[in-house]
Amino acid sequence: MVVNQSLKGRDFISLHDFSVEEIALILETGLQLKKEQKAGIPHPILAGKTLGMIFQKSSTRTRVAFEVGMYQLGGHALFLSPRDIQLGRGETIQDTALVLERMLDGIMIRTFSHDEVLELAHWASIPIINGLTDLLHPTQVIGDMMTIIENKGSLKGIKLAFVGDGNNVAHSLLNGGAKTGMDVVIACPKGYEPDAGVLSQAQQDAKATGARLWVVENPIEAVSGADVVYTDVWASMGQEAEAAEKEQKFLQYQVNRELMSHAHKDAIVLHCLPAKRGKEITDEVMDGPQSVVFPEAENRLHAHKAIMALVM
Ligand code: CP
Ligand code: NVA
Repeated sequence: MVVNQSLKGRDFISLHDFSVEEIALILETGLQLKKEQKAGIPHPILAGKTLGMIFQKSSTRTRVAFEVGMYQLGGHALFLSPRDIQLGRGETIQDTALVLERMLDGIMIRTFSHDEVLELAHWASIPIINGLTDLLHPTQVIGDMMTIIENKGSLKGIKLAFVGDGNNVAHSLLNGGAKTGMDVVIACPKGYEPDAGVLSQAQQDAKATGARLWVVENPIEAVSGADVVYTDVWASMGQEAEAAEKEQKFLQYQVNRELMSHAHKDAIVLHCLPAKRGKEITDEVMDGPQSVVFPEAENRLHAHKAIMALVM
């Protein structure tokens, strides 16, 4: 396929950084690449190019999707563990960026502080892709929105209820809703609301699409009439010390059969995974007929290919 060149050289750090049309282009490219891959049509769009992947946190889906995706695009991906590269021994982000930009065509980074991604992008002249920070998880939400389009036909006017912690995934869902006209309600216990700055920026962006973005405490109120019910772990990577306390506070926020009975009959269930089965989601819902969590996981591959093909 011929890939649109308009995003070439851009960083992919937050969905907020892209226009409504650019987000639509990323989604269309992902769906097209998926179609071609299923049809056995090769698309070596990044032949000869190399992506470096820095993971400061664990990953199954993101790592495999970027590595396999790069292979399918004709390029090569390098896994750079902090245990092995000098960044883990204190070499600065600046020096790492200034070296890697001379050898690589793009860098994907998963780390704790969002500022580290911004710093890497500041110093490196090659595209930087955010593979999850404590603040945002934008590549996840591209795959999620592809999954919603596949199941619901479009994003505009869809109501997505995110039930649980106002975390990185919730933040990127707010950004994604704002850019596509999808209504997003976050239901979370007091004290675990999404970041006020992210919410108000997304609400500002939403003026262009008419998306409604809001936060409630009551999970039943959130899922009432929802087309998509989304959940994620209550304690994200890096919050292990808070896990026990959160388990108590989030008991009412489990996505189970009872909660699902308040959503639309044909609502789909999404989870970015990995899941803590029996905590934020029951086996019955996760393995039930409304769940599309595994097709959702597969869509990370197609989403990441679109992001790389467009920016690298
Ligand atoms: N959803 C997601 O990012 O999964 P991994 O942590 O396995 O990459
Ligand atoms: N919110 C989770 C998402 C994992 C993909 C975390 O940050 O651990």
